Amino acid sequence: MMTTSGRLPEASARRRVLVTGATGYIASQLLPVFRERYDLVLLDVRTTDAGGQPVAGAQVADFLAEDPTPLAGHFEGVDAVVHLGYWRPPGKTVTGQDKSYLEERPNVDMAERVFRFALDHGVRRVVVASSNHAADWWEPLLHERRIDAIGPRDLPRSDNYYGWAKIAYEALGWMYACGAFGRKLEMVQLRIGAPREVDAAEFVDRPAQYKRDLGAYLSARDLQQLVVRSIEVGPLEDEWEVPFQIFYGISNNTRAFWSITNARSVIGYAPEDDSEVKYADDIRRLLTGAGDRGRLGTER
Ligand SMILES: NC(=O)c1ccc[n+]([C@@H]2O[C@H](COP(=O)([O-])OP(=O)(O)OC[C@H]3O[C@@H](n4cnc5c(N)ncnc54)[C@H](O)[C@@H]3O)[C@@H](O)[C@H]2O)c1
Repeated sequence: MMTTSGRLPEASARRRVLVTGATGYIASQLLPVFRERYDLVLLDVRTTDAGGQPVAGAQVADFLAEDPTPLAGHFEGVDAVVHLGYWRPPGKTVTGQDKSYLEERPNVDMAERVFRFALDHGVRRVVVASSNHAADWWEPLLHERRIDAIGPRDLPRSDNYYGWAKIAYEALGWMYACGAFGRKLEMVQLRIGAPREVDAAEFVDRPAQYKRDLGAYLSARDLQQLVVRSIEVGPLEDEWEVPFQIFYGISNNTRAFWSITNARSVIGYAPEDDSEVKYADDIRRLLTGAGDRGRLGTER
């Protein structure tokens, strides 16, 4: 078992890392660290971020284009792919669960295409932004305390197409990792939790949601550590010699309800932040204050 220590692994040989969705939100949290450690191939359908600011080095590449041939060249000499590309239907949020089958299908097509290019071009490892929504059907049971925790070994269950698409990424990823296509492509699927700061003002009348977001919280530095370790640390093989891992992406939260024990043992993930400590003052005010204790005691 790997001991978990230190924040980021010692930088070793400089890797060439291709990032899809490189001008998106998750990429914006990763790129500062990636720029220090890797030679980057940054691909997206746009070269500016959501605020219209140019993203240095970003190149236009459409992973849903009818003719994918021009994409191949980007994969030459790449060691690892970080797949963050996500097609969002107009008017919908990324993580919104109100999307239809046909609105999510392109994202499954995109994942398949990225994995295939990686396989065909000798890429060693692919790290994929999946989501906690791959198993979100369980969440009400967790909050009702009918079950204590969910981990990567529990069956992925979702009641919406956003979660279904993430399950499909994971299922496709397994096929590539197990050697079905001639070699084993190393694969990490990250079920990212809530990768944003928790603004208590948004939860004043929603204590159950507040508790949920405290449990799901993922700080930017912990996200960076998790992804860097997912790119660099190994081996990833499970007990069946398949280099495939699913890791939940959360910080070291006291209120965690998803298990990260395998991320700790396989890649030495040692998250530094705990929402309980970071937001202690807000929690005292909103959840444990004398005036609220009785009222919130009946929540969940
Ligand atoms: N943001 C979150 O809270 C969150 C939480 C859990 C999981 N995730 C997952 O992480 C991934 C990235 O999310 P995000 O929040 O950065 O989304 P985002 O919308 O900010 O970024 C996605 C990027 O993909 C690009 N893209 C769209 N179509 C493309 C195509 N055809 N080819 C290449 N690039 C294309 C977009 O232009 C965008 O820059 C998604 O799969 C999402 O489901 C996000």
